[in-house]
Amino acid sequence: MSKKILALIVLGMFVMAIGLTGCGSQKSTTQAPKVIRVGSETAFAPFEFQDEKTKEYTGFDMDLIRALGKQMGYEVQIVSMGFDGLIPALEAGNIDVIASGMTITEERAKKVNFSKPYYKSGLTVVVKSDNNTIKGFKDLEGKNIAVQIGTTGANEAAKVKNAKVRAFNNPPEAFMELRAGGVDAVINDKPVNDYFIVQSGSKDAKVVGEPLTAEDYGLATSKKNAELGEKLNKALDELQKNGEYEKIYVKWFGVKPAK
Ligand code: ARG
Repeated sequence: MSKKILALIVLGMFVMAIGLTGCGSQKSTTQAPKVIRVGSETAFAPFEFQDEKTKEYTGFDMDLIRALGKQMGYEVQIVSMGFDGLIPALEAGNIDVIASGMTITEERAKKVNFSKPYYKSGLTVVVKSDNNTIKGFKDLEGKNIAVQIGTTGANEAAKVKNAKVRAFNNPPEAFMELRAGGVDAVINDKPVNDYFIVQSGSKDAKVVGEPLTAEDYGLATSKKNAELGEKLNKALDELQKNGEYEKIYVKWFGVKPAK
């Protein structure tokens, strides 16, 4: 009798042990954080740039995509690369999302899926402070213009008559060339130009004229991964409802987003 009970107890423990291990391994697969690889050209403050001290990628887009990742239950891994390499990387499956101040355009939408717009932007012109001849886009004819490669700014510059356009890897390099006197103007996104002017103490450069375009930034996902695109839109809605989006917006731009 007591032997039978002992056998039952041992058997019971054995079953429990199997059950526990079973649970354990199940848990570890469902709990392991899923990672989304987010591609970005990270010299585009205040949207994406490297914190000098921590070396971490920071900025509006970085905060937003991390918050979206959290909302969806993903860990976000930032992959820094050239702006013109982002869409090819997405198409090749090397990244899952583009968060890079990327303007939603018809041309790009043929290749990738865009989320709902998440930021309203546009292009402006930056010249040296002492330049009094270029007062806006209309004065750019025949001038030397710097842009970032593969951007909407580069597209606009290409339309300017007789202009000599030089494409740089990122806006800071274009601004440096302007400072050095190598170009007359930079065409680039308004919020980035404004941030640059403020950061540089607005002594050597200024923004001229009205914004040329009205552009919307969107997050891009692969056409082969419609599910991720839908999840992103849903998470974006949720962050806009729960105030998290507004918090991030105010942190970087000092004002509430326009409704
Ligand atoms: N909005 C512009 C475009 O889509 C410029 C974006 C550049 N972004 C960046 N992270 N460098 O063409």
